[in-house]
Amino acid sequence: MILSALAVAGYRSLREFVAPLRQLNVVTGSNGSGKSSLYRALRLLAETAQGRVITSLAREGGLQSTLWAGPERISRAMQRGEHPVQGGGRTRPVSLRLGFAGDQFGYAIDLGLPPVGTPVPFLHDPEIKREVIWSGPVLRPSTILVDRRGPLVRARRDDGDWDVVSQQLSTFDSMMTQCADPRNTPEMLLLREEIRGWRFYDQLRTDAAAPARMPQIGTYTPVLGHDGADLAAAVQTIIEIGDGVALAESIADAFPGARVAVARSDAWFEVEMQQHGLLRPLKAAELSDGTLRYLLWIAALLTPRPPELLVLNEPETSLHPDLLPPLARLIARASAGAQVIVVSHAEPLIDALRQHPECQSIVLEKTLGETRVADGQGGHKPLARHLERGKFLAGNRRPQQADIDATGEQALHLLARNRRE
Ligand SMILES: Nc1ncnc2c1ncn2[C@@H]1O[C@H](COP(=O)(O)OP(=O)(O)O)[C@@H](O)[C@H]1O
Ligand SMILES: [Mg+2]
Repeated sequence: MILSALAVAGYRSLREFVAPLRQLNVVTGSNGSGKSSLYRALRLLAETAQGRVITSLAREGGLQSTLWAGPERISRAMQRGEHPVQGGGRTRPVSLRLGFAGDQFGYAIDLGLPPVGTPVPFLHDPEIKREVIWSGPVLRPSTILVDRRGPLVRARRDDGDWDVVSQQLSTFDSMMTQCADPRNTPEMLLLREEIRGWRFYDQLRTDAAAPARMPQIGTYTPVLGHDGADLAAAVQTIIEIGDGVALAESIADAFPGARVAVARSDAWFEVEMQQHGLLRPLKAAELSDGTLRYLLWIAALLTPRPPELLVLNEPETSLHPDLLPPLARLIARASAGAQVIVVSHAEPLIDALRQHPECQSIVLEKTLGETRVADGQGGHKPLARHLERGKFLAGNRRPQQADIDATGEQALHLLARNRRE
């Protein structure tokens, strides 16, 4: 399934944020514009399918600290700078909402705080207030498949009536992990498994003590681990069952004249790189940070088992600028098999990715503390193309900008409606 929009509300600087997505997306923006927040919001969304959203929020310092810290409403006078930014009292319940729309399904979740009168130790525990799964690209009351309100989970039957799936789901459990079963809620099961497959790479280690530098016991490894420890096994797996030609090409593209092989002694695997001008191959332990990191990216991106969604946070870290155009080609190649979101602030990488016909550029900017998608250059043209492709509407009416906003915003607002505190 391809995701067509991502919506986040009430999370750090993402007060009410909707971005359209395509096959390949590059998220950029100046420092503090909200790139990392967007990456983390995506991770949180993925955690729901693992049953970890509440603990992840706690690890980030709790719901209170991740909530949008600005005023509930930003008046026009505040926007024009005629009026200082001030908060009135809260009129709406505390709410952190995350969701996405895809061509087959959409999902959204609303987290809040317990009602007044909750025993003190758990007063600050976030609660899941509402979750919705809908079918097709557009969220409408008629497309809702599974609807959770507090402890009550209902699923729509084929005849259109509702089955109660659970009446006592606890506030800290997601319906995704507790109520997905192949008989009553096959869509939820499907969606959960898909989200569980989303792959995030952030901060692959290449320091002197990095696990990727040590020989490792090699086993069949179609997916590079997050610490890169299984680099040699992942490279060998690509050679055996994956696209060995692409592997060789990607290495030659970045390091002309170089070759990579996996040295094996018994079960121990070690990456070796034969470089132009050297008499012996260098072991992983001897490679420069940048070279090793590039090999890690090759192993991650040429995976023989691509995920539905691949999210890369600042993949440019510690790479020489010369390596950024080859990295962009590698990412573009990966986007043929997986939907890709790249968060980056490296111009050469961004520029190279933008050359790709499927690339959607999402430029973030911050106005009055709030992250928005910048209009104009970069953001605008791909958006127009996206509109033409009509992902958001089931009918054949030509979709308008309003439809795109509606899909994401509906996801946000539908969740906030009818919430009993
Ligand atoms: N709870 C919050 N409410 C509003 N803004 C926040 C909150 N927490 C952090 N921010 C702001 O969000 C901005 C975005 O940060 P970040 O995502 O790290 O930006 P980037 O990765 O683009 O440099 C920062 O400028 C920070 O001040
Ligand atoms: Mg950042």
